[in-house]
Parts: sequence; C-alpha cells; structure tokens
Amino acid sequence: MRILSGIQPSGVPHIGNYFGMMKPALKLQEQGDAYLFIADYHSLTTSPKPEELRERVLNVAIDFLACGIDPEKTVFFRQSDIPQVCELTWILSSMTTVGLLERAHSYKDKIAKGFAPNAGLFTYPVLMAADILIYKSNVVPVGKDQKQHVEITRDIADRFNRIYGDIFVMPESAIRESVAVVPGTDGQKMSKSYDNTIPIFGGKKAIRKKIMSVVTDSTGLEDPKDPTDCNVVKLYKLFANEDQVKQLEAKYRGGNYGYGHAKQELFEIMWEYFTPMRERREELENNLDYVEKVLREGAEKAAVTAEQTMTEVRKAVGLR
Ligand code: ADP
Ligand code: TRP
Repeated sequence: MRILSGIQPSGVPHIGNYFGMMKPALKLQEQGDAYLFIADYHSLTTSPKPEELRERVLNVAIDFLACGIDPEKTVFFRQSDIPQVCELTWILSSMTTVGLLERAHSYKDKIAKGFAPNAGLFTYPVLMAADILIYKSNVVPVGKDQKQHVEITRDIADRFNRIYGDIFVMPESAIRESVAVVPGTDGQKMSKSYDNTIPIFGGKKAIRKKIMSVVTDSTGLEDPKDPTDCNVVKLYKLFANEDQVKQLEAKYRGGNYGYGHAKQELFEIMWEYFTPMRERREELENNLDYVEKVLREGAEKAAVTAEQTMTEVRKAVGLR
C-alpha cells in the first residue's frame, strides 16, 4: 500500500504544526510504503522570492529529518526534482473542466478574500492530482482543508481511466482527525497568521519568552486555580504523561501556585521534549551535504515510479 503526502514549505514550524501535521506524517513511515515530498511547485503560486523559497525548502527538509523522518523508510524528496509531474499536470488539465476547478473551496476562499488569482492557483488541484496519481498512491493523509482536493483527484482519475483505460489507482484520503487544535499564546488556534506561535526550534530565551506570554486569567498567586480551561495546562498536556498532568492540576487546585510557576514547568517539559530533535537539527544544519543527498536519493527512487507511469500515460493519450 502506497501512502503519499506533500508538505508546503511554509516557514518556521510551531507546536501546532508539530502535533497537527509533523507527528502524524512521521507515523506514516511505520504504516506502509511511504512517499513524502516538499511541495515547492505549489509554493510558487504564492510568488515567493527565489532565495526565500530555496531556504524554506531546505529548512522544511531539515525540520522533518530532525523530527524523525527516516530516509530508509520514507521516500523523501522535493516535488520539483520530478518535473514529469508538470508534464502530467498539463495532460490532466486538458481533460479537466474549468467548472470542476471553480468549485474548489480553497480557490473560492482566496477569491473571496480579494486575491487576484494567478492561473497556478486555479490549477493547483490539478498539480496535486498529478502528484498523487503519478506515484499510484493508495492513501493520501491530509488535513481537512485538503479533503476536497483529493476528491477532485478522484474525479480526474476516474475520467482519465474511462477515456484512456485503467492506468491510475483510485486514491483514498485519510483525514487527520484534528489532534485537538493546539492553542496559541493568546488562546486562539496557534497560527502564523495570528502571530501567537511557539516555535519548536529556537533559542532558550526566545522560547521561554513566548511561553511566559501565554494568556491566563488574573487569579492571584495564593488562590486555587481552575485547570480545566487554562491555556498553560492545554499546552502542558501535549508533552506530559497522565501522572504529570494530575500533579499539575493538583497544584492548580491547591493554591499558592502561580501561573508563572506553571509556565516555567511548561517551558521545561517542552524544552526537554524537543532536545533530541534540536540536537539533530544542529547536526543537520552543519551537514547540508547529507540533507541534499537524502533529497537526491529520494528523488532518484521517486523518478523511477514517475517515469513508469508517464510511459503508460504518454502512450495512452497518443503522445510519442
Ligand atoms: P499556520 O496556520 O501557522 O499557517 P499551516 O496552515 O501552514 O499553519 O499548517 C500546516 C498544518 O499544520 C495544517 O494542515 C494543520 O494540520 C497543522 N496545524 C497548524 N496549526 C495547528 C494548530 N494550531 N493545531 C493543530 N494543527 C495545526
Ligand atoms: N496542498 C497540500 C497542502 O497545502 C500539499 C500537497 C501538495 C499535497 N501536493 C500534495 C498533499 C499531494 C497530499 C498529496 O497541505
């Protein structure tokens, strides 16, 4: 069973990204024949500066390797190292109706926000279909926001197979049930767009400062506190075992325990949790040749599958 997913290279990862996306992606490699790629072609639709794009792609690769992607188990590569995916996008675009793409929520949302869309944004789902179909993926784990894109992929595959013969595998989406939304320092969903994130990597001082800024109520130091709706407790639970959570809750209820103390404990447990990954990240940063080598070797493996599919596709549609 082939499991495939793509990741957008979108800046410094935060705790929400880690628990909502990275950790589930890491599990994939234990569940089947895993392909994971960095969607740099998709990123171009947001018109990044060239240097910025290159840097982000490299950083995402380092982040994922530091957090546990094992290149022996996962074919880990850069989308653009397999240009055949663009060739397939064209072929699929030529048999996809404009109406189907106009119904895409993510496209409609951007329009509604007043974006002047480029054609890449409009055909984004076709490129995503090509990503999925070229590797004959069976299962595509994605967040809820991407579910419709996998449905569009199925529509496109079905149409292609009916016209040209059974070449594509019908993929299923596996929706990541939101590991409860991770709250940001202000209590809203943690998100880059709200400037309320706690990054997973970074200096001790900077991270402690972020944690100290987590919003709490104003119950006085001596007074007992209610742990049930406290952002500090919600974040602490991500890292702690049951006993540790119980102990923290008891301290809340007992009084004479301030939010500053709780935040210090949150900082310590988080710092320890990410220590092995932080150390690995430092090693990787000093060994960029290794990171490049992993991506290159991943691409070599992915290219074999992609080229096999394209040989079938070109023949089926009457090219060459
Ligand atoms: P941001 O909201 O910071 O821009 P992205 O949209 O780039 O983050 O998120 C990438 C993925 O990380 C999402 O698909 C989602 O699965 C996960 N994610 C982001 N923020 C959170 C959060 N606060 N809680 C849980 N998962 C999250
Ligand atoms: N569009 C996806 C996202 O924004 C990333 C992506 C690109 C992807 N191609 C894919 C995910 C193929 C799964 C399969 O998160």
